[in-house]
Amino acid sequence: MSNSGGNRVVELVQYGLGGVGRALFGLVTENAQAIYNQLGVDLRYRALVDSGSVLHLDENSALSPQHLRHLAAGLQGTPPERLINQQGAVKKPSDLAVLATELDRLRSDDRGARLVVVDVSGASENIMSPVITAALRQGQRAVLANKRPLCGPIQEYRQLVAAAGTGANRLRYETTVGAALPVISTVNSLLDARDRIHRVNGTFSGTLAYLTSRLEEGVPYSQAVQEAKDKGFTEPDPRDDLGGVDVARKALILSRLLGNDLELKDVEIEPLYPVELAELDIPGFMKSLPQLDEEYAQRVSDAAAEGKVLRYLATVSEGKCRVGLEKVDKDSPFGRLQGTNNMIVFTTNRYNQSPLIVQGPGAGAEITASGVLSDILSMARK
Ligand SMILES: NC(=O)c1ccc[n+]([C@@H]2O[C@H](COP(=O)([O-])OP(=O)(O)OC[C@H]3O[C@@H](n4cnc5c(N)ncnc54)[C@H](OP(=O)(O)O)[C@@H]3O)[C@@H](O)[C@H]2O)c1
Repeated sequence: MSNSGGNRVVELVQYGLGGVGRALFGLVTENAQAIYNQLGVDLRYRALVDSGSVLHLDENSALSPQHLRHLAAGLQGTPPERLINQQGAVKKPSDLAVLATELDRLRSDDRGARLVVVDVSGASENIMSPVITAALRQGQRAVLANKRPLCGPIQEYRQLVAAAGTGANRLRYETTVGAALPVISTVNSLLDARDRIHRVNGTFSGTLAYLTSRLEEGVPYSQAVQEAKDKGFTEPDPRDDLGGVDVARKALILSRLLGNDLELKDVEIEPLYPVELAELDIPGFMKSLPQLDEEYAQRVSDAAAEGKVLRYLATVSEGKCRVGLEKVDKDSPFGRLQGTNNMIVFTTNRYNQSPLIVQGPGAGAEITASGVLSDILSMARK
């Protein structure tokens, strides 16, 4: 497809320069010209923001494509450069103030550009939810990989969604659930086509999928967790994965999309470690894990006696949301799932006897960045 005119300028204000943010910056910078040629979308960075600093990419101190590539290379280098060390970067007053500056500039530029706030940060909902809601209220757009702004109190969630309006395609968050896998878009397509979704079941954590596969192979719990940590599948503190809250956030996002007014505290969460281990430091926690080996080996063998295996599943149905270990038939789609892939099963009026299944890698900086870019472009084309 080639550009047949009707070019659109889309200006990005990106919050977050971690794994996903840096991958996205590199992806956009490398492909901006090809995107312009093929789709007529002129993607430009206006601001980059991390936890403490901002770099406003002002047209007057124009950063040429060459400079942008240099910046992208530095941010992704080994070791990666900090944003604050880049020419022009300053300590930020606040995340909202960064947005306000960009909105002012957009108004004074008067070039008909669209602003997209891209939240690929790890910031909390009380920081990012007001930023996104404010941008949407000003008629701008937002793309999120960060789940937290969609998981705050239901009133805030409603305000955020209402600010995006209906049918205007101004808020996209495909990568919050299953990275670039089409999960949110599948729910939206089913709902648009007036199907009724009875249940969504999913393995939404590659880390926990790995863990349950290894348990099934007879590996002790403590060893499986240590392996997952050594392979970089877990967060530095494995409790961030084992606690199930990240999976619960994904389940909550889906549940709210289905129209349920649940709060995060309403999601029933089964953590994979007991509360007594929550206060230990990381080495202490890792050392304490063998005490759980017997319990998990027993659960695996109880399941096997029934021809089943354990999977860490999210179950979202009308008014109910649970995440935890479930026994599933060994030869069911979930039972056959190995490795770190995610699998999401939709049971609907139309997909009933044979449910609709989406499967593939559900994490990774590059893949998530590609999903974020896809969201940005699908908005830009409307
Ligand atoms: N990685 C994946 O596979 C994946 C998949 C789907 C969704 N996500 C989501 O995508 C987001 C980014 O993931 P990641 O792996 O890139 O995380 P990460 O490597 O931990 O990076 C987080 C980034 O957020 C920045 N940040 C924190 N507070 C901020 C604030 N108030 N304003 C602006 N930036 C702020 C951090 O800045 P500093 O560097 O200054 O601390 C850092 O650059 C997370 O919300 C994650 O849950 C990730």
